[in-house]
Amino acid sequence: MDLRRYIADIPDFPRPGIVFKDITPLFLDRAALRYVVDRFAQLARELRADFVLAAEARGFVLGGAIAAAADAGFVLARKPGKLPRETESVEYQLEYGVDALEMHADALAGGARVLVHDDLLATGGTASALCELVERKGAEVVACAFVIELAFLGGRARLAGRRVESLVVFD
Ligand code: PRP
Ligand code: HPA
Repeated sequence: MDLRRYIADIPDFPRPGIVFKDITPLFLDRAALRYVVDRFAQLARELRADFVLAAEARGFVLGGAIAAAADAGFVLARKPGKLPRETESVEYQLEYGVDALEMHADALAGGARVLVHDDLLATGGTASALCELVERKGAEVVACAFVIELAFLGGRARLAGRRVESLVVFD
């Protein structure tokens, strides 16, 4: 399926000079949505993933659907202060400044096999933070799966040594 048809270029969002890749048309289309969920659920099954881990907000859209379709569990990574119990926290670099993601500390344990998912790979800061959360628990990242990869931002290099799957690459 040609997924590019469902990704819109939005000039000057969120700032002048940035061309934002908008994935929401893909989420609106039932066939495209089904296709992406099936592709990543198949990957999760092949890699015997026990869990899918994704970050809010856009990572949650497909993350839960992939987990359910793959018969895996879903682990939430959220912005600080949103999760109610003890958390594991990781800071990561943004273009300007730092942000953090948190996961419930007891969500993953040693030996768990985890598929890391996000809608889009840009600099790789978010995905490498997710991988760190997994590995701190002694769990294993079996692959990182993205719908969109902005290759010119170099995120794949930041995930060197890991299996990285992306369905649409923009050079
Ligand atoms: C976007 C996207 C990824 C991240 C990728 O999320 O959904 O999570 O950026 O960028 P990176 O590879 O440079 O880390 P955003 O922070 O815009 O949050 P949102 O999902 O809440 O919109
Ligand atoms: N689109 C959506 N999310 C993003 C982008 C983009 O172009 N760049 C960084 N996060």
